[in-house]
Amino acid sequence: MELLLFLFLFLFQPFISPIFAVDFLYNSFNGLTNGTNVTLINDARFDNSVIRMTNDSNQYSFGRAFYPTMIRMKPSSNSTNISSFSTSFVFSILPQVSTSPGFGLAFVLSNTTSPPGALASQYFGLFTNATVPAVAPLLAVEFDTGQNPEFNDPDDNHIGIDLNNIVSAKVQSAGYYNSSGGFVPVRMRNGQNIRAWIEFNGTNLEINVTIAPVGVSRPTRPTLTYRDAVIANYVSAEMYVGFSASKTNWVEAQRVLSWSLSDTRTARDINTTNLPVFKPESSSSSLSAGAIAGIVIACVVFVVICASGYFLWWRHKKLKEEEDEIEEWELEYWPHRFSYAELNVTTGEFSKDRLLGSGGFGRVYKGTLPNNTEVAVKCVNHDSNQGLREFMAEISSMGRLQHKNLVQMRGWCRKGNELMLVYDCMPNGSLNKWIFDQPKKLLGWEHRRRVLIDVAEGLNYLHHGWDQVVIHRDIKSSNILLDSDMRGRLGDFGLAKLYQHGEIPNTTRVVGTLGYLAPELATVAAPTSASDVYSFGVVLLEVACGRRPIETTAPEEEVVLIDWVRELYAKGNAVEAADPRIKGEYDVGEMEMVLKLGLACCHPDPQRRPTMKEVIALMVGEEVATAPSDLLSELARGDSDVVLGGGGDDDLGKATPSQATPPVRLE
Ligand SMILES: *[C@@H]1O[C@H](CO)[C@@H](O)[C@H](O)[C@H]1NC(C)=O
Ligand SMILES: *[C@@H]1O[C@H](CO)[C@@H](O)[C@H](O)[C@H]1NC(C)=O
Ligand SMILES: *[C@@H]1O[C@H](CO)[C@@H](O)[C@H](O)[C@H]1NC(C)=O
Ligand SMILES: *[C@@H]1O[C@H](CO)[C@@H](O)[C@H](O)[C@H]1NC(C)=O
Ligand SMILES: *[C@@H]1O[C@H](CO)[C@@H](O)[C@H](O)[C@H]1NC(C)=O
Ligand SMILES: *[C@@H]1O[C@H](CO)[C@@H](O)[C@H](O)[C@H]1NC(C)=O
Ligand SMILES: *[C@@H]1O[C@H](CO)[C@@H](O)[C@H](O)[C@H]1NC(C)=O
Ligand SMILES: *[C@@H]1O[C@H](CO)[C@@H](O)[C@H](O)[C@H]1NC(C)=O
Ligand SMILES: *[C@@H]1O[C@H](CO)[C@@H](O)[C@H](O)[C@H]1NC(C)=O
Ligand SMILES: *[C@@H]1O[C@H](CO)[C@@H](O)[C@H](O)[C@H]1NC(C)=O
Ligand SMILES: *[C@@H]1O[C@H](CO)[C@@H](O)[C@H](O)[C@H]1NC(C)=O
Repeated sequence: MELLLFLFLFLFQPFISPIFAVDFLYNSFNGLTNGTNVTLINDARFDNSVIRMTNDSNQYSFGRAFYPTMIRMKPSSNSTNISSFSTSFVFSILPQVSTSPGFGLAFVLSNTTSPPGALASQYFGLFTNATVPAVAPLLAVEFDTGQNPEFNDPDDNHIGIDLNNIVSAKVQSAGYYNSSGGFVPVRMRNGQNIRAWIEFNGTNLEINVTIAPVGVSRPTRPTLTYRDAVIANYVSAEMYVGFSASKTNWVEAQRVLSWSLSDTRTARDINTTNLPVFKPESSSSSLSAGAIAGIVIACVVFVVICASGYFLWWRHKKLKEEEDEIEEWELEYWPHRFSYAELNVTTGEFSKDRLLGSGGFGRVYKGTLPNNTEVAVKCVNHDSNQGLREFMAEISSMGRLQHKNLVQMRGWCRKGNELMLVYDCMPNGSLNKWIFDQPKKLLGWEHRRRVLIDVAEGLNYLHHGWDQVVIHRDIKSSNILLDSDMRGRLGDFGLAKLYQHGEIPNTTRVVGTLGYLAPELATVAAPTSASDVYSFGVVLLEVACGRRPIETTAPEEEVVLIDWVRELYAKGNAVEAADPRIKGEYDVGEMEMVLKLGLACCHPDPQRRPTMKEVIALMVGEEVATAPSDLLSELARGDSDVVLGGGGDDDLGKATPSQATPPVRLE
């Protein structure tokens, strides 16, 4: 029998593409060489006997690991004969915080090791986003531990077939069919070792994916079967095979422990006996030898368990009385939903000494997450459940907005009508404090200018950098926060929408803040990006003049900042409005440009305000298509009745980038 088989193989092997045959088995990655046995890309690395895909200490990280040579999928690029292959591997996905959003891992077949347009932070480090699929022939099997409702993910634990697109062609919750045909779910994000088998039949254009925890023998029925002729469009003559994964703010260890692949027969079996095991960090792992010590420890543990069990039960009972049940719809949204209990601990039971501030919106507390990250927890009172629900849909996309000049949202929580939003902590507080409340720590001109540019870039991202226009609606100096490097970041985006859905108690502000509101909002309710530009203009003037938009104690003609500056500008001495406390620090031309830009942004006609793109170009001194000085002088007048003062026109040209902050590219 064996002789027959041997003869069979011997005789027929030459006809089954002998030159390109790939057949390997890596039971472990111990002793393997980068470039020879696997090719590691970016943050992927050998870590003892396994491959770790991402780097925990980088905020955005991706890694890929490919077999070094491409495998042949077709005899020539225009052939329709597609080869088959079979692969099997063991992986483990372990997030540091079990409740954080997950990222997962993908098995990839690609004609390039760096798919063009792939984001470094999300979508397995392979794709851009739903609207722009990656262009190279690329086929991936995703083992996704996060839920993106907008990409039709059914849950945060699923397998999907991705054809050049983050939106899967087919998805299935992770699990396997046991011998009696029952579906047994498998949790992929608790660090357990999971074995996967992928069978790709190029004749049938069919992919079978099967998973099972290591220790469970190979299920006969695949977890997912996908059969569609379109697969042919995503296969090129030769392709790299391997893995890819990425992460953003949260740490998730994606590991590949073993891998086998063959393009001539069923992939060889992985020997799973001595695989390392990865568990969530746990406190009690002492292995002290003595039996007595063991007994003592066991007793102590028992007592502690009983006591803490009782405590937890008591606490749970107590919390249960306070906390609402989590409603099903709340689980659908992406930014991480913290439990009330979690935030209670994080903020030291919302203690007074953690209070960072309070205002019309509610209170803000400082908190510390279990991984020692400092966060700000903002509590917003709200009465309308319906409004809240709509708002959550928005939060889910807000949480995805990522830009260096936005305060990053980490998650949220709801208790009754109170909504809690968790943001990255901004150690230096809000901009207004640095201009109005702290005469000793007064922010100098260069800093102010840089912060204004930062905010302009953040706002530009909201307006133009995202697939839908996000209107902030509440731009003001107290919503501009300074991070540890004193760079400006825009906070509270999208919150104004919540206020619109249902007024929040004890505040007169419904949408936006008096003094920053564009005039057209008094008559036309719909805010636009131009009304944000208006508010930004007010901030420009506020920061340049060191005055609040409405200064009730000032002489009558100076009460409304915009009117005052506009009047001075008309008289040709706008610079008189500049903050006297920073006199001498600024270049007069530069100051004049900022004041003029502020007035231009505050033009009564929304159509004639510049866009944020133009604002940035002017602030960093870039060339813009339309002659900026003409544009601005004309715009800055705001009112055709005001006679334009002389001398203002050509100064803008002087604000060249010589000593200005270098223009920072937008992603
Ligand atoms: C790794 O590559 C080297 C060089 O090609 C080869 O000799 C070795 O057998 C490979 N290791 C494994 C486990 O396949
Ligand atoms: C693996 O090799 C590639 C180039 O062949 C290199 O860019 C990469 O940094 C290497 N990775 C590691 C972890 O050594
Ligand atoms: C992660 O990246 C940082 C810098 O980006 C580097 O210093 C560090 O060595 C990397 N960590 C690992 C484990 O490769
Ligand atoms: C496929 O391409 C080769 C060369 O690129 C050409 O000679 C051959 O005629 C093509 N076959 C078909 C069916 O188009
Ligand atoms: C495709 O396969 C068929 C049947 O095996 C064979 O006759 C044909 O020549 C193949 N075509 C190419 C381009 O290899
Ligand atoms: C991958 O395929 C695309 C489209 O067929 C092609 O433009 C590109 O050159 C290919 N890249 C490589 C590295 O083969
Ligand atoms: C298979 O799974 C079903 C449902 O999970 C379960 O009821 C059944 O007992 C399992 N059968 C075996 C043989 O494990
Ligand atoms: C692919 O499917 C065809 C038709 O069912 C079958 O004849 C062939 O053996 C399969 N190939 C592999 C590699 O399983
Ligand atoms: C995929 O699974 C189905 C159902 O078990 C089976 O009929 C088919 O042959 C499998 N295909 C491959 C390529 O393994
Ligand atoms: C698996 O590996 C262990 C040791 O690592 C060995 O004792 C065992 O025989 C191996 N099993 C098979 C089926 O090769
Ligand atoms: C998604 O694609 C659109 C269209 O090109 C682009 O404008 C948008 O910035 C992309 N979003 C992300 C998050 O990359």
